[in-house]
Amino acid sequence: MDFFERCATLLTMNANTPRRRFALVGTGGRAQMYLNAASRHFRHVAELVGICDRNPGRLEWNRHAYSEHCPGLKAFPESDFERMITETRPDEVIVTVQDSYHDLYIVRAMELGCDVITEKPMTTDAEKCQRIVDAQARTGRRCRVTFNYRYSPPRTQVKDLLMSGIIGDILAVDFQWLLDTHHGADYFRRWHRRKENSGGLLVHKATHHFDLVNWWLSSVPEMVYATGKRQFATPETAERFGLHERGERCFDCPERERCAFRLDLASKPQLKELYLDQESHDGYFRDRCIFSDEIDIEDTMNVMVHYRNNVKLNYSLHVFSAWEGYQIAFHGTRGRLEHKCQETVYVSGDGSVQGALQKEGTHTRIYPMREPAYEVELWKAQGAHGGGDGPLLADIFEGTSDDSYQRAADHRGGAYSILCGIAANQSIASGKSVRISDIVGGLSEPDYPPMPDPTAPLPMPRMPAK
Ligand SMILES: NC(=O)c1ccc[n+]([C@@H]2O[C@H](COP(=O)([O-])OP(=O)(O)OC[C@H]3O[C@@H](n4cnc5c(N)ncnc54)[C@H](O)[C@@H]3O)[C@@H](O)[C@H]2O)c1
Repeated sequence: MDFFERCATLLTMNANTPRRRFALVGTGGRAQMYLNAASRHFRHVAELVGICDRNPGRLEWNRHAYSEHCPGLKAFPESDFERMITETRPDEVIVTVQDSYHDLYIVRAMELGCDVITEKPMTTDAEKCQRIVDAQARTGRRCRVTFNYRYSPPRTQVKDLLMSGIIGDILAVDFQWLLDTHHGADYFRRWHRRKENSGGLLVHKATHHFDLVNWWLSSVPEMVYATGKRQFATPETAERFGLHERGERCFDCPERERCAFRLDLASKPQLKELYLDQESHDGYFRDRCIFSDEIDIEDTMNVMVHYRNNVKLNYSLHVFSAWEGYQIAFHGTRGRLEHKCQETVYVSGDGSVQGALQKEGTHTRIYPMREPAYEVELWKAQGAHGGGDGPLLADIFEGTSDDSYQRAADHRGGAYSILCGIAANQSIASGKSVRISDIVGGLSEPDYPPMPDPTAPLPMPRMPAK
């Protein structure tokens, strides 16, 4: 029994307070974090009562894996989602299915009287986003979107610095996110590779990044212009690598011994048990060729965003990069803040930790106007997503009584983060800029912490040296 389990058991024995009941739909890779949390680490406050999935093999694997800690756990097929709600009576439903189905479960769970915790992106297109916004208004239920990056200590620290006014009012932001050839390639192997499933990487992946900027600025996007193309993950690139006899998937590909981009599903227990062993039920291959012509998402993207508070954002997302992480610069009236995070190599389900920080590649630096630049001592971070997953889970299950950074995001934060990407997709298709208020209505501004007063007197910078 580990430390967390001992604490959980002790607290369970003492507690008379009723535990909150959770059900989860979509028992794949990401679900494991929530299932572990609800069934083990937080079982003094949580009770996992039901799980649901369209793949009966994966569903049974999960039921078996978590029943040890939750003996009464019930498993339901996709067609019995509503029965799961009526029979197990959860307070909250956790949604971790493929992105394009989030809206179905979010809306139905709220209509059936549950609050919702959904993985990002909240959904994939404007119509589905509108359905969620309308259902939330109709039912009054809470829909929480789990933006783990806000909880990563070095990223929370950036928010703290910007709130303190250290660089004054923010005028413009330059933000570049890089996915390396391991993690980046993974989005081209399975359902993410089709826009109808994931919204493309400007929605699926950049929802994290646009949410960070919206929250860092305490503002919302108004106008978006974008360009994007698939330039690397193409049949032409494969040919240039000499991969002429490519198969549909890595598992039985004639080129598998030579291809540096292959994924070996049989090599890691979780990949094998969760995916390879369950393929016969639904034909979901986790290792499709990343050079396939079926792919319709971009791997090279540039976006310009105009914010309600007049800030201009220049954002790029490059997928087949030599390193993983990001760099961002905030230009302010009193100086500049630069923040860089280099992350470790990761592939979902292979046992690696997603987005752990590389110490030597991570820094935050302040350039005060006409004063010497200095490094800020970083807030310490451990674990996945820059140390964000742990504090996020603690907040979800135990609650943070007073969070001056207001890191918990609801449907409005979820919507504004995807609307940047949805507008960017529309802009790529039309070649024109897109106004956010033209694609979704009835959306108020999220609750963001106040920023420095942009009308306050400004201290005059030091005179230039003669
Ligand atoms: N916040 C993060 O950092 C992070 C990281 C990884 C994944 N995610 C998100 O988590 C979600 C799941 O991703 P994943 O990597 O676990 O995918 P996955 O393919 O491993 O798992 C999805 C599961 O949902 C099931 N499913 C799909 N459609 C369904 C439907 N209509 N009804 C019932 N079950 C259905 C599949 O059978 C599978 O078990 C996605 O929305 C993804 O964007 C977030």
